[in-house]
Amino acid sequence: MKFSQLVKRVGGDGADAWDTHYRALAAKERGENVIILSVGDPDVVTPAPVVARAVDALHAGDTHYTAIRGRSALRERIAQRHTSRCGQRLTPEQVIVLCGAQNALLVAMLCLTQPGDEALTFDPMYSTYPASLEASGAALIRVPLNRDAGFRLDLDRLQSALTPRSRVLSFATPGNPTGSILSTAELAGIAELARAHDLWIVADEVYAGLAPGGRVPSLAAQMPERVVTIGSLSKSHAMCGWRVGWMTGPRELIDHAENLVLCMLYGLPGFIQEAAITALDLADEAEGEMRRYCERRASLMLEHLQGIPGIRPLSPQAGMFMLLDVRDTGLEGAGFARGFFDCHGVSCIAGGAFGAQTRDYVRLSFAVDESLIVEACTRLRRYCIDLCAEARA
Ligand SMILES: Cc1ncc(COP(=O)(O)O)c(C=O)c1O
Repeated sequence: MKFSQLVKRVGGDGADAWDTHYRALAAKERGENVIILSVGDPDVVTPAPVVARAVDALHAGDTHYTAIRGRSALRERIAQRHTSRCGQRLTPEQVIVLCGAQNALLVAMLCLTQPGDEALTFDPMYSTYPASLEASGAALIRVPLNRDAGFRLDLDRLQSALTPRSRVLSFATPGNPTGSILSTAELAGIAELARAHDLWIVADEVYAGLAPGGRVPSLAAQMPERVVTIGSLSKSHAMCGWRVGWMTGPRELIDHAENLVLCMLYGLPGFIQEAAITALDLADEAEGEMRRYCERRASLMLEHLQGIPGIRPLSPQAGMFMLLDVRDTGLEGAGFARGFFDCHGVSCIAGGAFGAQTRDYVRLSFAVDESLIVEACTRLRRYCIDLCAEARA
């Protein structure tokens, strides 16, 4: 059978990374005592008024095709939220509603890059980035973050990775898996390079609502002609399964994105968009709750990781993930994650899924019930004690 080149580009390591997660889901379905820390999908329900709005809309027959770009009432609210977060003034015509931040990332890349271009991102990166950045045929350029500094930007490395083919720099802030937020000073360095090299910047702010104060430093107001911002309700409102996200940027880009969406998605369901309008109307409250939820769980996990031999946690600035450096157990992240699931039924993601820099790490989600965090850390302690004993033997 013959397939396109595209299937290779989207079928790489990022896709493999989810193997342990799928094994864990299957084990859970069989009724086994597993704890799933391999995905960031909060264990809380979507705010009740959001669900009620969707149900009402369904009963009212809101089940027809919708505007490809998204309903104007929803785009207006996204524009307002964006302005209040970063100061960039937007018209609703600079917003397109998409099927989650993931879809927005792919749409952005397909509109901005092509074969012969280079699409840069930081290593480590969210595991779907390689496929999303390479789908267009552009070459993925991984710019290592400074591991010794807790995975902060290394501006010199970014500068030396730039070539005449560099077209776009894409990053998540707060990052996944690091939970790091790009500071104003780091962004200023990026802005200077972006101007000098005529780069697009795609800022994935899917976790921005979970950052302290519900916002992250942004370049959107400063460089509206070259900054694309991606957002979603998945993380801020416990709405991962609703698949509501968006992209904002220059009007011309959004017009092109609309053409792409016409043949890719054909608009989001109306009842979902109505629910999203309600979600944005109560965004301050919902985000505040999710922030407190994440902060509480992050500190609970850190507390219970204390004193476990062989691991070093990296405390995140925001988000729902904790990276653990496991090299002192004598294993790389992949072997560690496999063994942890096989021996103790806890799934996490091997750091290699996020890039070469995190090969010695695993990523744990703490977006689960607090009792599961405590139990997972108890199992982790047993696992690490055994590993360290084996390493000494
Ligand atoms: C950095 C990052 N970007 C995008 C996504 C996808 O989010 P969505 O559910 O809105 O598609 C995720 C999901 O985990 C993520 O971590």
